[in-house]
Amino acid sequence: MPLKDCVIIDLPKIYDPRGNLTFIEGGNHVPFDIKRVYYLYDVPGGSERGGHAHKALNQLIIAMSGSFDVVLDDGHEKTRFHLNRSYYGLYVCPMMWRELDNFSSGSVCMVLASNTYDESDYYRDYETYITDVKRLK
Ligand code: TYD
Repeated sequence: MPLKDCVIIDLPKIYDPRGNLTFIEGGNHVPFDIKRVYYLYDVPGGSERGGHAHKALNQLIIAMSGSFDVVLDDGHEKTRFHLNRSYYGLYVCPMMWRELDNFSSGSVCMVLASNTYDESDYYRDYETYITDVKRLK
């Protein structure tokens, strides 16, 4: 899938003087059913996460608190997304190499995923990933 399919989704916001509220419904606000939620927290300054791609997994990445960058690479081009609002979700389609960096102190990265954890769905080696991108073209 090309990089242009990976977009920032503006999630619903219910403004309220008591505190704002955002909600996400699988198959409605995100183009997949949600089977797993995981989050990164206590990320030390200067850390980098990611460094892999998924064969079939769809994900939505949200900065629940603070900010960080997600660099997406489809094997042809790269785009850097800055996530800094809890009502923005970055949709990451399958076959997208990703790196996460530039974490602000206290940031929390939540990921909604279309499937449960499966190590066989990962590409952890960039050369193998690129070989398959070219083969599947
Ligand atoms: P990884 O996906 O490489 O983390 P990141 O992309 O954030 O850098 O996962 C790190 C470790 O955590 C790895 O050993 C697999 C494990 N893990 C699970 O057991 N379940 C999960 O849902 C996830 C995302 C990771």
